[in-house]
Amino acid sequence: GPLEEMSIPLYFGWFLLSSVQDKVRCTSMDFLKTLDTLEAFKKHMTDFTGKAEKEVDLEQYFQGKGTLHCTTKFCNYGKAEGAKEYVQNPAVQDFYGSTFELSLSALFVTPRTVGARVSLTEEQLKLWPADAEKEAESAVPAAASLPLGSRAHVTLGCAEGVEPVQTGLDLLQILALQQEGQQGELVEEMELGPLTYYGEGRWLLSLREPICAPACFSSFYK
Ligand code: A2P
Repeated sequence: GPLEEMSIPLYFGWFLLSSVQDKVRCTSMDFLKTLDTLEAFKKHMTDFTGKAEKEVDLEQYFQGKGTLHCTTKFCNYGKAEGAKEYVQNPAVQDFYGSTFELSLSALFVTPRTVGARVSLTEEQLKLWPADAEKEAESAVPAAASLPLGSRAHVTLGCAEGVEPVQTGLDLLQILALQQEGQQGELVEEMELGPLTYYGEGRWLLSLREPICAPACFSSFYK
């Protein structure tokens, strides 16, 4: 009935505890600031500006999108495919309200989004929808052949006019390139780890030491 449909949230996910949100935001800002000053980035600036001469201030280029979280299932109040099944998954019910430690293993930047890759554990994968990657197939054809959990990420910011759903698609695109055997161009060893360029404005910083982010599995209603 309508009441049941009302009780399904906009989305489920892991919500980073506030202390670690600040830390992740700072790390991301520092990364953007440093990236902006690199000659290698300036060389590919047109990926972001479309114009040769124009400069870009990455810190201004991306807008934050509220509380930092890693979406597990976008339910759209029950209207999204598989939403009702997801709510009924025993793992979802059992773990609701529990705290987990997420491992943020990389930061990535594209002309559309900036985000953090989340590397899920076996236990965390129990909360991951089996078709999360396959659902992205129309945007990223190779997505369905990537391992379960590949799409897991935290959106840190979006360019003007870009919806946060894009962040996971940008991540899948980079992982699809890696899977095809494209190594990318190792640009330099940064303090936090190696920085790789994948063309078309796609940058990936692998964190030598992943950020451990405590996060509560819960849901969001607007
Ligand atoms: P993300 O998880 O990349 O941040 P919105 O504010 O646009 O309604 O989105 C709410 C949240 O749900 C965001 O966190 C967003 O992206 C995620 N989201 C929106 N649409 C989808 C979708 N079709 N598939 C997966 N996640 C989505």
